[in-house]
Amino acid sequence: MLEKIPLFSGLTEEQIRDLEKVASKKKYPKNTIIFSEGDKTDSLYVITDGKIKVTINDEDGKEIILSILGSGEYFGEMALLDNQPRSACAMTKEPTELLQFAKDDFMQIFSSNPIAFNLLRGLIQRLREANKKIESLALLDVYGRVARLLTHMGKQVDDKLVLEDKLTHQEIANMVGSSREMVSIILKELTNGGYISIENKMITINRKLPYSW
Ligand code: CMP
Repeated sequence: MLEKIPLFSGLTEEQIRDLEKVASKKKYPKNTIIFSEGDKTDSLYVITDGKIKVTINDEDGKEIILSILGSGEYFGEMALLDNQPRSACAMTKEPTELLQFAKDDFMQIFSSNPIAFNLLRGLIQRLREANKKIESLALLDVYGRVARLLTHMGKQVDDKLVLEDKLTHQEIANMVGSSREMVSIILKELTNGGYISIENKMITINRKLPYSW
């Protein structure tokens, strides 16, 4: 299974076997906190099934969703590499299965193979996405942020874009830094205009969303 995970691409069979030996597999129910922002923990996690929500929370408990990660993706690499506390909170969004690698085991395998390059590539991609988010927050209004998020998360299915992650209005609001009420109004208008359809919380974008609202 590990050879299918992009982080481990390029490893030899022997290296994959070494990794398998030190991985511990655990299942978590929905809404379990794996770790919180500021925690001192030293493991890296790979998602083999399910979804993880990466969030930061302000003092009033308001949640900002940085990312939703799915099967084959990993998290917890930042604190592991820079020895700082966890930069964000990681919580299961649905029942989730994780592979946990202890820092020492991982670093031993990491130091002599392509994982280093794979990790850097992943970090650069996360930084690019974070920059896009900063740009959205600074330059776009709430409608623009919602439209960009939906378009970005949608996967092409025939001539439509389908969001496979079932998102609540509150989660969309937490991803774009807005209120749930505002997101509900925007989604309702887009539904009324036939731009999107929502079935069982799954959003389908039927045609290109308007540039502005
Ligand atoms: P770490 O700081 O150890 O713990 C929180 C983890 O969340 C972090 O490592 C990354 O794996 C992940 N993370 C932090 N910021 C982002 C982001 N902007 N996008 C995706 N994942 C992130």
